[in-house]
Amino acid sequence: MNNSFICSNRLTRRHCLKLLAAAMAASLLPVFPGFAAGGARLQKTIPNSNKVLPVIGMGTWRTFNVGSDAKLLAARTELVKTFFELGGGMIDSSPMYGSAADVMGHALSQLGIADSLFAAEKVWSPAGGSAHEQVADLQRRWNIPQFNLLQVHNLSDWREHLAVLRELKVAGKVSYIGITTSHGRRHREVEQIMAAENIDFVQLTYNIVEREAENRLLPLAAEKGIAVIANRPYNGGSLIKNLKRRGERLPGWAAEHGCTTWAEFLLKFIVSHTAVSCAIPATTQLEHLQENMRAGVNPMPSAENRKQMVRFFDAL
Ligand SMILES: NC(=O)c1ccc[n+]([C@@H]2O[C@H](COP(=O)([O-])OP(=O)(O)OC[C@H]3O[C@@H](n4cnc5c(N)ncnc54)[C@H](OP(=O)(O)O)[C@@H]3O)[C@@H](O)[C@H]2O)c1
Repeated sequence: MNNSFICSNRLTRRHCLKLLAAAMAASLLPVFPGFAAGGARLQKTIPNSNKVLPVIGMGTWRTFNVGSDAKLLAARTELVKTFFELGGGMIDSSPMYGSAADVMGHALSQLGIADSLFAAEKVWSPAGGSAHEQVADLQRRWNIPQFNLLQVHNLSDWREHLAVLRELKVAGKVSYIGITTSHGRRHREVEQIMAAENIDFVQLTYNIVEREAENRLLPLAAEKGIAVIANRPYNGGSLIKNLKRRGERLPGWAAEHGCTTWAEFLLKFIVSHTAVSCAIPATTQLEHLQENMRAGVNPMPSAENRKQMVRFFDAL
C-alpha cells in the first residue's frame, strides 16, 4: 500500500502518523545482516513514546565485570560490536556490577556510540554516594553524555532515589525512569509502586519457569503503559545450560513458531508476551550472543503457541 496515497487522499496527517507508528510497533523492519532467511527483527514501541526498542537487549552482571585484563576487555569489546551489528539496543548495567561500567566505557570508546544504543543504568544505595553522584560517576565511566533509562536497583531507598530520577527526567537529563527487582522478590511492593508512581519502566524476572509476573505485574504494566524489561531470561544460565547439557530436543512444532534453538524457544517465549518490551540475556560468548540475537527475529509465537510451550516445558 502506498502511504503517500493514504495520507493525501483519505486520512489527516495525524491519522497518518498514527498508522506509521503502528507499523513501527509491528516492526516490519528489514532483516539485519548475517541473518539469512526468515522474517524481520522485532522491535516494540516504548509505551507513551514514539521510541522503538529491539526486543533482545543485553545484561552485564558478572559477564562484564572483568576489570582491566586486556584480553577480556578486547573480548567484551567484540561482544558489544557484534551486539550492535546484529541490531541490539538496550544494554543494562548497575553500580552493583563491579567494573562493568568501565568495561562498557572501554568498548564504546573503541567502537564509538552506536545510534541504536539504549543505555540503561541504575542507582543502588550500597554503592555509596547520592543518586546524583552515582549517575554522574556512571556517565563518566560509560563515557556517554547521558543514559536513556535510569532505574532504582532492587527498590533500594526507592522513594528518595525515584524523586531524584524524576528531577533528572524533568531537567531532560534522562528520558525514562523505572524500578527493578528480580527472582520474584517484593512483587507486592513493586505492584504498589507501579500503581501509585509515574514510572516508564519496570524490570523483573520473567522466563518460562519463573512466570509469577504474569499474574499481576504484566497485566498492570500493560494497563498503565509501563515498559517491561525481563531480566534473568535463562534463570541465571541454568535453564539453557541444562537443556543443552542434557541434549534435550526441541519439540517438532517449535520450528513453526520460529524456534529452531533453545535460545529462540526461551527468549521468544518471553518477548512474545504482549506486555514485555525486551529481554536482556547476559553472555561472555560470541556464539551465544549470536544465538540470542537471532531470537529477536520474527516469526514470534502466538498466545496459543505460548500456552503450548508452557505445557511442553512443564512436562519435561
Ligand atoms: N535486580 C536487577 O536489576 C537485576 C537482577 C538480575 C539480573 N539483572 C540484569 O539481567 C541480566 C540477565 O540476567 P543474568 O545475567 O542474571 O542471567 P541470564 O541472562 O538469565 O543468564 C546468564 C547466563 O546464561 C548463559 N548464556 C547466555 N546465553 C546463552 C546461550 N545462548 N547458550 C548457553 N548459555 C547462555 C551465560 O553464560 P555464557 O557466558 O557461557 O554465555 C550466563 O552465564 C543481568 O546481566 C543484569 O543486567 C538485573
